[in-house]
Amino acid sequence: MTDTTDKIIIFDTTMRDGEQSPGASMTLREKLELAELLEEMGVDVIEAGFPAASAGDFECVSTVAERSRNAVICGLARSTPKDIERCGEAVRKAARPRIHTFISTSPVHMKHKLKMGENAVLEAVGRSVAQARNLVDDVEWSPEDATRTDWEFLCRTIDTAIASGATTINIPDTVGYSHPDEYGALIRRLIETIPNSDKVIWSTHCHNDLGLAVANSLAGVANGARQVECAINGLGERAGNAALEEVVMALKVRRDTLPFHTSIDSTRLARASKMVSTITGFPVQYNKAIVGKNAFAHESGIHQDGMLKNNQTYEIMNPEDVGVLETSLVMGKHSGRHAFRDKLLTLGYELEDDVLNDAFKRFKDLADRKKDVFDEDIAALVDDQLSTAEERASLNSLRVVAGTQGPQTADVEILIDGTVRSASAQGNGPVDAIFKAITEIMQHSAKLELFQVHAVTGGADAQATVSVRLSEDGLVATARSSDPDTLTATARAYIHALCKLDIRRAKRIAA
Ligand code: KIV
Ligand code: ZN
Repeated sequence: MTDTTDKIIIFDTTMRDGEQSPGASMTLREKLELAELLEEMGVDVIEAGFPAASAGDFECVSTVAERSRNAVICGLARSTPKDIERCGEAVRKAARPRIHTFISTSPVHMKHKLKMGENAVLEAVGRSVAQARNLVDDVEWSPEDATRTDWEFLCRTIDTAIASGATTINIPDTVGYSHPDEYGALIRRLIETIPNSDKVIWSTHCHNDLGLAVANSLAGVANGARQVECAINGLGERAGNAALEEVVMALKVRRDTLPFHTSIDSTRLARASKMVSTITGFPVQYNKAIVGKNAFAHESGIHQDGMLKNNQTYEIMNPEDVGVLETSLVMGKHSGRHAFRDKLLTLGYELEDDVLNDAFKRFKDLADRKKDVFDEDIAALVDDQLSTAEERASLNSLRVVAGTQGPQTADVEILIDGTVRSASAQGNGPVDAIFKAITEIMQHSAKLELFQVHAVTGGADAQATVSVRLSEDGLVATARSSDPDTLTATARAYIHALCKLDIRRAKRIAA
């Protein structure tokens, strides 16, 4: 039934629509880690993947489902019997399973993509929703490209979906074409027109092609939608989806005009943003709302003066509300293990003892090499350690000759499957030399898609975070590494990405 309360259901699709953006694929371990954080944060529905897409996707959805506690775990399925069966199987072990099934309804999609007429699509809607409803009690249905669908036909498909057992009706602005007045009016008109509209939850799913995804989602809410589909950092196909952190904070900060609430603990937003950026290698734009590096920075003299007098002069929310802590000088080489564990807890990391011991060793190492160790340094160090824990290869040593007098050379030693192997190479610059030497040891034909360097903090001794994305035979892997030595981080990130590709290749062969 239509929810008349003011609670907005937050449906996170970072692991499904988000993962569909090129280069953003995630491993099982990464998805489990993210799912755990999303649950802790209070996300109501987690769309964990598209089980019929691959064996890897199936495994991710079913493992997330098995480990879930409170959140609804949802899988996506096309309208075919096989897809729906597979999806039902994947979400089966969740405490609260959901099947989300969809089919395109716009003329352009039906003609060119599906090559199906209206009657065939209507038949598929009824059949697929009924099949899903036989497997689980919670079924969401989406008319893909709803905002470019003929009005009469859209109503007929939604009628059919509700009559066949759908419990949530999601209205995707698949191509990000709508604007807020239009999208809000569509939601309102559907709720007013569809006879059984009060029997279902209405949901928004807005893409950001015109930069209007969040505005459209909020317009949907203002007009009766009670579920918002969104993704951390706005990850998603093309320009992405509505950003979860923006939707949540807009509802929180502007409760005066949008009288709704969510169950999200907003103090975890910064951590979630960081985790998704680390996993995907997609940096967060500096001026991104809520979680960008500059979202709470004040540069001009007038603004700084105002902030010193009263922070409400230029801030509509407190950085702590979204989990941005004052950057602090955390510890030095004399800090103990206990203080280190406490610091990790404040940063959102709860590590097992053996992992904590390793992290502490690496922290001591870093503190020896870097004068000031900041929160961001510790987060980068732990992210690095967690993401490489199960890999078959790691950098043993690196020596590089660089500078104006070529040739640039790299001597690399890698511990691979328990044996140390070494190679030397010359290159067009030190990075090229490092990559060639690693290639000689690890033998691959992967193509470098992205190579990016960021400073973790300020200062000439700052750690560098290097992101590397590789592709091979349709498989893509992104990896990051941080170190005060940019070239060491480069070598580690490259090895790490190759290991991830290995894991993906093995999974594909197994499938
Ligand atoms: O954008 C879209 O239409 C989708 C559907 C599958 C819901 O992602
Ligand atoms: Zn989408």
